[in-house]
This record gives sequence, structure tokens and C-alpha cells, in this order.
Amino acid sequence: MKDTLYKNTSKISGKFNFDEDTARVFNDMLRRSVPHYHEIQAMICSIAKKFARRNSNIYDLGCSTGTTLLKISTALSRFPVIIIGIDNSEAMLKKANTRLQSSGSAAPCTLIKKDLNYASGFKNASVIISNLTLQFIRPINRERLLSEIYTGLNTNGAFILVEKITSKNQKIKRTFDGLYHDFKLKNGYSKSEISRKREALKNVLIPYAAEENVRLLKKSGFRLIDVFFRWYNFCGILAIK
Ligand SMILES: C[S@@+](CC[C@H](N)C(=O)[O-])C[C@H]1O[C@@H](n2cnc3c(N)ncnc32)[C@H](O)[C@@H]1O
Repeated sequence: MKDTLYKNTSKISGKFNFDEDTARVFNDMLRRSVPHYHEIQAMICSIAKKFARRNSNIYDLGCSTGTTLLKISTALSRFPVIIIGIDNSEAMLKKANTRLQSSGSAAPCTLIKKDLNYASGFKNASVIISNLTLQFIRPINRERLLSEIYTGLNTNGAFILVEKITSKNQKIKRTFDGLYHDFKLKNGYSKSEISRKREALKNVLIPYAAEENVRLLKKSGFRLIDVFFRWYNFCGILAIK
């Protein structure tokens, strides 16, 4: 379903959230709002396959409508892992459940409703994925969440982090923001839709600079850290325990 949330609906005022209206148009929203979204999904899945270990857990934090879960469970359908999707939005989990149920070949996934601002209880993980989710966790809770991710991973486990990022340099920030604006225009959003959504996301999606995310990963204990994806103000990082 086409994303017209910020065109002519009641969403025009108020903060962005992940309710039923958002869940309904979410797949179209991400395809048109995240540069190389499908390539990022493919890369996450390829990395996850390399690090998945028998009898371990794979977590997808902020699993939304289950796009990553579907891909990974299909790729690992004959591999003995437990795939767990976590989200705090009932509407998103409902949609993920419907999609997973109707996908014949995929291995089963467990969906858990949980607010990642609070203790998450990861254990025996070979892979933990956070694709565009950490940016929605309150800054005060991010360090704790990253520490729990590190603790929950087994040695040689992988944390795959993709985030919208900002730049500490104002000139570069303005350049990247402008290029992102052009990307959304090209994908059919109007100038007013783009600016309404930007307003709605203020203080809801709080991006960090890439260096800040790397600093927090190091502080949590990760030593092997590198960028696997970068497009102006989007960045994918692989961190290995
Ligand atoms: C941009 S979406 C993630 C996209 C998804 N990972 C994908 O690959 O398509 C962010 C998700 O994080 C979830 N989320 C936001 N804050 C959360 C929190 N505090 N705890 C758990 N999930 C949260 C939202 O409900 C939403 O589904």
C-alpha cells in the first residue's frame, strides 16, 4: 500500500509513531525512504549467514513487518538456529506474523513484544541485527542496550548495525541532508510531505554521527568494527565480539 501518511491525513500534525497506519504503508515507506533498502537487507542477510552458528539465537531488533526475518529464515531454513524478532509495536508484530505465516518455506521465527529501552535479556546469540532501530532508542538507554548486545553475543558473534546518521560538520550535514531530500523527491514524495515527516520525526528519530556509534560500540567492548555500507547519511557497521 502506498505511503501517503504525510499527504492529506490526520498524521500531518503530531509525532511519528509505529501504529497501525504506519504499519499498513511501512514496506512502501521504507522502499522509498531508505536508500538501497533492498541491498541493505541482502547485505544483512549475507553477513548473518556467515556468522550464524548451530544451536544459537539470531535476534532482529525492531523487526517491524518482518522483512529481515523473512529473508534470514528463508536463507537458513535448514540450519538449526532460533530466529527472534523483537519490536514494541503491536501493529508491526501483527503484520510480521501474517507475512511469516504465509511464507511457506521459511523456518519458524519467534516474535516478542518488548521495549528495547528496558533490559532485553539477549543470550547465546551468534548474530544480533539492528536495522534502523537504535536511532529510535532514547539516547540515555543506548549505551546500556549496546552493552547488553555485547554481553548476549557469543565469542565471534556479529552485531549488524544500520543507522541514519548525522555529521558533526554543519556544511557536510547540510550537503547530505540535501542529497537525501533529492532522493525522496525522486521517489515521489512532495516537498511538503518530506518537511512534515521531518518535523514529526524530530526528537523521535535521533541520529548520531558515525564516529559516535563507533565510540559507543568500542565502549561496549567491541574491538573489530568496520563499515560495510555507506550512503551519505546512512551507515551500516559490522562489529564482531
Ligand atoms: C525503522 S523501523 C526498523 C526497520 C526494520 N528493521 C527493517 O529492516 O525493515 C524501527 C522499528 O523499531 C521499533 N521500535 C522503535 N522503538 C522501539 C523500542 N523502544 N523497543 C522496541 N522496538 C522499537 C519500531 O516499532 C519499528 O518497527
